Amino acid sequence: MRLRNKTTILLVGLLMAGLSSCVSSGDNPGIEYAPNMYISQAYEPYSQEKLFEINPNGMTMREPVNGTVARGQLDYIYPHPNTGAGYEASASFTSNIPITESNVKEGERLYNYACWHCHGKKGANDGPIFKSGKMPGPSWPNVQADYIKNIPMGKMYHTITYGKGLMGSHAAILNPTERWKVIYHIKSMSLGEEFEISSDVVEVEEMQEGAEEEVMAEATQEEHPAEEH
Ligand code: HEC
Repeated sequence: MRLRNKTTILLVGLLMAGLSSCVSSGDNPGIEYAPNMYISQAYEPYSQEKLFEINPNGMTMREPVNGTVARGQLDYIYPHPNTGAGYEASASFTSNIPITESNVKEGERLYNYACWHCHGKKGANDGPIFKSGKMPGPSWPNVQADYIKNIPMGKMYHTITYGKGLMGSHAAILNPTERWKVIYHIKSMSLGEEFEISSDVVEVEEMQEGAEEEVMAEATQEEHPAEEH
């Protein structure tokens, strides 16, 4: 009799605990019936469900259409391959990043963390790595050499992007815009006063201001055409 009493108390206790655990409160969502109906299953993007092997490339995620460019990354498209012919063709590759004081200055900052340990702070190929003798430097002694004075900027871009000889690729360290800024800094060290800093940006701003004034003037005329007479 006493045993049956204990069993009843235990069962009632369990039932209460069970029921109360169904109630959601605070962080506890309670017991959910068929949770798949509320929370969609997250499939692994780079693999696929064993029962569902119909995906192209064996993964749930679809690859972007060929030629797709991520927004804002158009300048990552570089047309020349990492070959001798690609290097020669890169000579005509140019950028639309203006050669301004601030871009050259930013190039100096980037050079002083990504390049100086080989090429030296002033471009004399006397950075600690070349100085140590563990790695031979380039054939040109410093950036003031004719070779760097005359080298097309496109070829410099090619070399920074893919590397050349013992110099590795720096594409992972500098984005395309940064590569051009570093190039401007090297050319500025190389050519000194002869390196032309463009004032394009100022001109463009002035042109815009001028255009705005014209538009404003036209708008005023349209609003008060009578004033013309
Ligand atoms: C680990 C040492 C090392 C580092 C770091 C390095 N370079 Fe070089 N760089 C070299 C060597 C070696 C050469 C000569 C390559 C050759 O002609 O075979 C070279 C060549 C060059 C040239 C001549 C390119 C050409 O087409 O002939 C340029 C320009 C240049 N480096 C720029 C840079 C810039 C910019 C950086 C930083 C983003 C940099 N280097 C970082 C070792 C280095």
